[in-house]
Amino acid sequence: MSVKSKVLEVLEKNRSKAISGQELADYLSVSRAAVWKAIQSLKEEGYQIEATTNKGYLLLDNNDILSREGIKTFLLPEYQNNPIVVYKQIDSTNLQGKKTAATGTKHGTVILAEEQTEGRGRLGRSFFSPAQTGIYMSIILKPQKSLNDFLLITVAAAVGVCRVIKKLTGKEPQIKWVNDIFLDNRKVCGILTEAVSNFEIGMVESVILGIGINVKTNENQFPEELREIAGSLFSEGITRNQIAAEIINEIMKLSENLEDKTLIEEYKKYSLVLGKIISYNKNGEIFTAKAIDINNQGNLVVENEQGETYIIQSGEVSIGSGQIFGNSKHS
Ligand code: BTN
Repeated sequence: MSVKSKVLEVLEKNRSKAISGQELADYLSVSRAAVWKAIQSLKEEGYQIEATTNKGYLLLDNNDILSREGIKTFLLPEYQNNPIVVYKQIDSTNLQGKKTAATGTKHGTVILAEEQTEGRGRLGRSFFSPAQTGIYMSIILKPQKSLNDFLLITVAAAVGVCRVIKKLTGKEPQIKWVNDIFLDNRKVCGILTEAVSNFEIGMVESVILGIGINVKTNENQFPEELREIAGSLFSEGITRNQIAAEIINEIMKLSENLEDKTLIEEYKKYSLVLGKIISYNKNGEIFTAKAIDINNQGNLVVENEQGETYIIQSGEVSIGSGQIFGNSKHS
């Protein structure tokens, strides 16, 4: 680990508390000059570090730069060794995740970016991923399980994100089946789960769980077609590092126990569609039905006017009868 990284780790753990150059140097067993150099380089990267003559260096509260060190500050002890890579800009963390998974990587590897130039959404859509206002993150999971659990990983991710949003904002998030997360009737998070399969053994080798969250994107920053649909968390005083870390903690925990039936129960509590009339697309035709349940595999169970029930395993649903509203580029 570089001196810069070590200094950042200490400053992140002691936010708003001043630490002298000498203390840092002693703690890290490096020279004061090395500490000074590290501080300059962090400042160049945009960190706001106050240097007071008597007290030392202090990382100001308003710093909100994604970093491995900042995320580690909030990770549970059991996930401290998860590999975490943060890019300033990348095409897509999911694409990078697939490349990384193909070369072999640890379960729980996390790839994040401050900005995505080709953020990918479900159903071939794009995901608006502007710099510094969101969290674009892919977690590589190696579940060693059959394909049946694939949807449950998405369910677990949605529950994990909702738990964190609820805890940090005090508000009640909702899930539009299967994995769009809404807050105050606006989509604040989308999840794209992709598999890297080993065709020889017919197993999913890795799952790339891509999570995109709008944290502080203002309404006028969204492209016109998203303005009515997309929203942000606006979780005052909480850094994106903390949000990302708490989501990693939740998802790692939940993914260890996908068979747990309480997962679906919790998912249902957050559901935006249950009990509502919804529309869905099947083979190019639009159907209207009532969403009556989510089964143990995470599929949506619907009932039509004739009282017949159907299971929807994938695709897009919208609330209300008639057409599927595309949720434009964001869904
Ligand atoms: C959707 O709403 O359709 C899913 C959006 C998923 C976006 C995330 S951002 C991190 C990861 N990288 C991507 O390119 N997409 C996912």
